[in-house]
Amino acid sequence: MDKYNLTEADVKKLNTKKGLRALLAKEPYNVAKALRYIDYERKLKKLQIELVKLQTWAINNNERIIIVFEGRDAAGKGGAIRRITERINPRHVRIIALPKPTEEEKTQWYFQRYVKQFPRAGQMVFFDRSWYNRAVVEPVNGFCTEEEYKTFMNQVNDFERMITESGIILVKIYMSISKSEQAERFADIKSDPLKHWKMTDVDERAQELWDVYTKYKKLMFKNTENGGIPFKVIKANRKTIARVNAIKHILSSIPYDKNLKI
Ligand code: ADP
Ligand code: MLT
Repeated sequence: MDKYNLTEADVKKLNTKKGLRALLAKEPYNVAKALRYIDYERKLKKLQIELVKLQTWAINNNERIIIVFEGRDAAGKGGAIRRITERINPRHVRIIALPKPTEEEKTQWYFQRYVKQFPRAGQMVFFDRSWYNRAVVEPVNGFCTEEEYKTFMNQVNDFERMITESGIILVKIYMSISKSEQAERFADIKSDPLKHWKMTDVDERAQELWDVYTKYKKLMFKNTENGGIPFKVIKANRKTIARVNAIKHILSSIPYDKNLKI
């Protein structure tokens, strides 16, 4: 083990972490992967400390922060949000993953149910999918009319301008996976009793509708060029790298006090 420069804590982890136990359970041991995982955990911990500073800054300065996560089904949005939020004070964080709109919500202004979830002072709100449902998921699956889609695309930049001009910090992340990676993840989700709940009718159609999703995704990105706020595209075929990069993007987008003693 010496030549890998592992600390005692690392070795202990090798024996306790579920993911690593699995990697080392059968020969040939996937040591390289196990070491990458340890490296990831170290990086993640450092970044999570920065997130604590960021949150402290937000609380002390009454900042309101919205982080939008978009991406195809199984892109890893939920998993990334979980790592970002797991070590910060839950009292000042909310994770929003709204279900499909109710009959009552359908009669309201489209943005209304999202606005209802916006942060109060000192709060960070993470959207696992957002109002951008109307830019991609809804038109692809026929959940909205062509007119509703066009209205949304015309309004969304102004909507976000109102958000940021009111002093709210808005960060938009798009997690990007390949078609084959999505197929593999769906297969994994279906075969795992702990993940099975994630599979929905919308997911069942996602591979077949891949190219239609691509078309609307591109239009969504293009639309931000007309004075909107761009998405940061994060390559997400490797979950660990994607999470690290998503956190780095958030940290570099928000002017928190890096020297804060915590
Ligand atoms: P999730 O992304 O949470 O796994 P789905 O894949 O089922 O959920 O759906 C993707 C998105 O589309 C979700 O935000 C969901 O609320 C939305 N959605 C699903 N069905 C409808 C519908 N009939 N009308 C509008 N939105 C819908
Ligand atoms: C996704 O991107 O697939 C969803 O947010 C669920 C997840 O991966 O955790």
